Amino acid sequence: MTATVSKPLVGRGFDRLDGRAKVTGSAHYTAEIPIPDLAHAVIVGARVGSGAVRSIDTRAARAAGAIAVFTHANLPRVAALPSAWPSGFGGPAPGQTFFPMQDTTIHYFGQPVAVVVADTFEAAKYAAELIEVDYDAAPAVVRLDDGRDRIYQPEKVFCGMVPARQSRGDFAAAAAAAAHSVDVTYHFAANHHNPIECSATAAFWEGDTVTVYDATQGVTATQATIAAYLGISVAHVRVVANYVGGGFGGKAMMWPHVTLAPTIARELGRPVKVVLNREQMFYGTGLREEQEQRVVLACDGDGVCTGLLHHKLSVTSQFDDWAEVSLEVAGKAYGIPHWDGQYRLIRGNTMTPTFMRGPGEASGMVALECALDELADEIGSDPVELRLRNHAAIDPESGHPWTSDGYADCVRVAAERFGWSAEHRRAGPRRDGNWLLGWGMGSAGYPVYLPGQPQRAHARLLADGMLVVRAATQDFGTGVATAMAQVAGDAMGLPFHRVRVEIGDTRYPNIVAAVGSMGAGMISAAVHTACSDLRAQLISVAVGDPGSPLHGRAPAEIEGIEGVLRIRSDPAIADDYAAVLSRNHLTDLETIGTWQPPAQDIPYGKITFGAQFAEVAVDPDLGLVRVRRMVGAFAPGRVLNAKLARSQVLGGMNWGLSQALMEATLCDPRDGRWANSSLLEYLLPVHADAPEVDIRFVEMQDEIVNPLGVKGLGELGMIGAAAAILSAVRHATGRPIREIPLRIEHLL
Ligand code: MOS
Repeated sequence: MTATVSKPLVGRGFDRLDGRAKVTGSAHYTAEIPIPDLAHAVIVGARVGSGAVRSIDTRAARAAGAIAVFTHANLPRVAALPSAWPSGFGGPAPGQTFFPMQDTTIHYFGQPVAVVVADTFEAAKYAAELIEVDYDAAPAVVRLDDGRDRIYQPEKVFCGMVPARQSRGDFAAAAAAAAHSVDVTYHFAANHHNPIECSATAAFWEGDTVTVYDATQGVTATQATIAAYLGISVAHVRVVANYVGGGFGGKAMMWPHVTLAPTIARELGRPVKVVLNREQMFYGTGLREEQEQRVVLACDGDGVCTGLLHHKLSVTSQFDDWAEVSLEVAGKAYGIPHWDGQYRLIRGNTMTPTFMRGPGEASGMVALECALDELADEIGSDPVELRLRNHAAIDPESGHPWTSDGYADCVRVAAERFGWSAEHRRAGPRRDGNWLLGWGMGSAGYPVYLPGQPQRAHARLLADGMLVVRAATQDFGTGVATAMAQVAGDAMGLPFHRVRVEIGDTRYPNIVAAVGSMGAGMISAAVHTACSDLRAQLISVAVGDPGSPLHGRAPAEIEGIEGVLRIRSDPAIADDYAAVLSRNHLTDLETIGTWQPPAQDIPYGKITFGAQFAEVAVDPDLGLVRVRRMVGAFAPGRVLNAKLARSQVLGGMNWGLSQALMEATLCDPRDGRWANSSLLEYLLPVHADAPEVDIRFVEMQDEIVNPLGVKGLGELGMIGAAAAILSAVRHATGRPIREIPLRIEHLL
């Protein structure tokens, strides 16, 4: 055999195709796209957290140059959408059922009460400051503690998708029979997403068709939402997102400003742009709700967990029953036979909360893992050993096997990299001058979600041998286009530089929104399918072409490598892609590949696992916590691009640090405003806070989830990171953890 096997592109660490454009400033983000005759709209937010608008005086704003002012009195009515998320993955995705400025009601501080439009941004901003709003103010309830007298349990949370009560076995009996147990409650502060790029939408109409530039995690979801609100066909809405500067879930749903831009543009007959400022990002794109989670863990004398109670209480909006689903992994990661999981809610004067970085599991796994950490101490077990003993070999809920697992390997790999030793941990914290050094670990897990609708991509081979791949996905920082080029190159048999990827436009075939870690799995499947189809098409042209050396050969004998079709067993018999097209007078070959994901209820448990370890240094006198190093190992199935995957998880782990020690949005109870709605006062980690991070991937073959076995790791890096850090702080200080984030004041 003389055949050279070319190294697959998938897995290698190619640089981002759009990296240069992003770091040199030539990338135009939504708010920067030049549009002729553009008018600028500035939103005026309510200055009370509850009540109603009594009157709005717009005269000064008009006198100062506003070309239009919209309020509840003159904003066109939008269609009412039945649910905050009526069609699950795909279809309209309004972040909340309430749409502002349809009447005088005020449900939350910052809610849009007027939109001021002017020829320049500066003029609109100035005029907006001159709007006088008179309110009937009512007391606003935003904090959990202010609403404990009105706790309710809906039938379902997560906007109708997840039952609020779930159970298996008999938790009470398990608890009564337990040899050991812990009963702990953790409080989580509200959080906001804070991507660097603030949300922005620009819209212009041509006849009855609107083009919308939007900073979104789902161009198709934006398209469907605008069409539904405006009562027009999706055929009349085109959405474009060339670059998106982060989202973290805050751009996954379509919030009111997204629909305001095309609505106002239609009224004015002129292009309109709306950009949220940093403060408005705290009132305009959802949040992670304030919550508390009670965990009761019961185990037998051998440290085998027998019962788990996990109850969550959280603040939702006045109008939607939202709770981020915190029990999906926490209820299944360990093979605990008796389980009682519940959600309860309080109606607050906030927006409807939404997806945020590891939505649900990021908090649920902090509560569970911190409780496990306490249980380990209670029974004198090594926390790592306790995890391994209780890891679910199969999905304890359904009894089905995992599509793939890898948890134990992740624990082993990460523990080894970290240098974990049970004896060392048991000996208590070490000292480094005045610092106490603590060690901790936490398990990572995130569900593999499978959307119902088919995933599609367009592949087109041009006469010069270049391949163009298109899909209506968008890059919000993941590097998806680069991964697509790798998948396409492998499937089509072309080198990386001969693939061009075009994304971010609803004119391309539909791909699910980039939420819930679904993006990479769905896109790789669609692109792989399209390019495999296209290669088969090319082969069939070649074997039917009397001018081709491959004429008459069986397609199964032929492989495509580096832009050349050749007989697998005799590579000297070959034909060039461009030559095949040229001889057959073809300017191109194209196909749309359609891949139907397996049903969500296939007989498999679907979780992506990982394990995280952290070392912290705590100054017990000053209450300072510094994370010195973190080690994470993850089993995301197949890694598409080593550099992108590491980058994604590195960010996630640092977000875990942020969750554990920094991020909290605090409410001013006098009017329900967020008191620290700026990057100055909303604490986020900076380089000086970032630890040394060691990341390993444990690649697993997963033949169930999708063709390349990509389970996704968008959210995974964050899960378990905070738990590992908090466990390490508890190890260093011996103090119980009850508040997240854990800040100086909690340690003094
Ligand atoms: Mo992700 S937080 O589900 O956008």
